[in-house]
Amino acid sequence: SLQAAPAVEERPAAVPSPTIPREVTILFGSQTGNAQNLAKKAGKTLEKRGFQVTVSAMSDFKPNNLKKVKSLLIVVSTHGEGDPPDNALTFHEFVHGKRAPKLEDFRFSVLALGDSSYEFFCQTGKDFDKRLEELGGTRITPRMDCDLDFDEPAAEWMEAVLAGLSAGESSAPSPASPVSVSLSAESVYSRSNPFRAEVLENINLNGRGSNKETRHLELSLEGSGLTYQPGDSLGIYPENDPELVDLLLAEMNWDPEEAVRVKEETVTLKQALTTHFEITVLTKPLVEKAAMLSGNGDLRQLVMDSNQLKSYIDGRDLIDLVRDFKPWNSSAQEFVSILRKMPARLYSISSSFEANSDEVHLTIGAVRYDAHGRERKGVCSILCAERLQPGDMLPVFIQHNENFKLPESPDTPIIMVGPGTGIAPFRSFMQEREESGAEGKSWLFFGDQHFVTDFLYQTEWQKWLKDGVLSKLDVAFSRDDDEKVYVQHRMQENSRELFQWLQDGASVYICGDEKNMAHDVHNTLIEIIEKEGGMNRDQASEYLADMQKNKRYQRDVY
Ligand code: 2AM
Repeated sequence: SLQAAPAVEERPAAVPSPTIPREVTILFGSQTGNAQNLAKKAGKTLEKRGFQVTVSAMSDFKPNNLKKVKSLLIVVSTHGEGDPPDNALTFHEFVHGKRAPKLEDFRFSVLALGDSSYEFFCQTGKDFDKRLEELGGTRITPRMDCDLDFDEPAAEWMEAVLAGLSAGESSAPSPASPVSVSLSAESVYSRSNPFRAEVLENINLNGRGSNKETRHLELSLEGSGLTYQPGDSLGIYPENDPELVDLLLAEMNWDPEEAVRVKEETVTLKQALTTHFEITVLTKPLVEKAAMLSGNGDLRQLVMDSNQLKSYIDGRDLIDLVRDFKPWNSSAQEFVSILRKMPARLYSISSSFEANSDEVHLTIGAVRYDAHGRERKGVCSILCAERLQPGDMLPVFIQHNENFKLPESPDTPIIMVGPGTGIAPFRSFMQEREESGAEGKSWLFFGDQHFVTDFLYQTEWQKWLKDGVLSKLDVAFSRDDDEKVYVQHRMQENSRELFQWLQDGASVYICGDEKNMAHDVHNTLIEIIEKEGGMNRDQASEYLADMQKNKRYQRDVY
């Protein structure tokens, strides 16, 4: 016959091969929502490329299913002293434990989020990366550790993942429509494109004579199209204290008007140091880079000794560094190029959008303390406390937080524990439940130093109590009596009733200081369950862990 068989099997170029489902599992562990957002965007990108993708919180993933996974992507943040986020805890434990399966024919890659000003930078991501290799996995692409400014490295990792996954396929990747791997958000205004919100109100909630200053801020979202749910946070891009900027310029003998390039923009040096860069925190990588620009041998000595370096950066800022290690042999341009981009600050929103359309309210504690012979001030909180006036504009974005949400049913009882500025999301919860006429019971534990000066939103709470929106209120003012009383003492005093609420299906929320308060309240909850439920310590822990798994125990801690 004249018809010879084609030497190469023909495949229509534009039709994706339907035969091999290329399955990828993406697991995230996220506290504030960044890792979750990145995981979801990675999922969408892969889907568009023809992969079959499962995206899930680690806490929603059945550990036994790990055996069945062939390609796993992990997106996980780290907080505190190298700790996993709440919704990564059990999976982290499982993977590191004896019951973790041997992984064969298993490929993975880790995207780790963190903050390089912390000692255990990206520790949770490092843990997973190491352990998955030990269990037999091979890397699709090496782990990527991201500092606060994660967009670029995350996009880079995503491209490497795509290349790695496609390279391993027996069929060519489906030539779907071109996909942008840039991880920009869907709405017009986002972390990378903040909305300039007008300040409507800015007042101090604490009375005269208080040790505290807590700002109540009201911002307008009019015209932004932004909305939010109770439990979400607002991100703010602050400006540095002009006094610090001037000090830095003077120390370095820099001309404030000198033009410098920042990404694609050209701005004055003063502008760059005011809005574009962080000047109040030192990180190890920053000091290491600075050592290359310094003509001072002591600095090169310092960065050689990791313990000395650690103790030097603790509580010091850029001005300390430039003062302590003169002379500097670099141009202003070179110097600013080593600085970290100004990170956004996240604050738990204290209003309900339903109850205050086009507004967002915040409850911000002013941070001031002394260190190394100078008064130090929180960048964003002190901008709010000392310089921000009604009429001023603030660049903001909404950070959705799936991990701190009212129960689905308006009838579910809620227990809220929020001392200090931890009160913020609970004001939002109450506004929302009042607005929607929810019937579920609610119980607030609030604490602060003094009843007279520090009972944040006192009249609002009392009105909600009177109207029945709030069913029960217990307060702990720690410095009104000789003995300290904290929210957890009030919980103990009410242990029987509290346990009954849990048995009746109540959800528990904790917001506020992580290191001391949230930890102590967590242990108190276990003690209460142990005592009132007639359980041993392990059973009580299990009870609380189950609640956490079922989203009945949620924390927004910092
Ligand atoms: P203190 O500062 O008097 O010790 C809000 O800051 C409130 O939380 C204050 O009353 C503060 O008390 C209290 N607080 C401090 N440490 C705490 C802890 N470990 N558990 C609960 N509350 C705490």
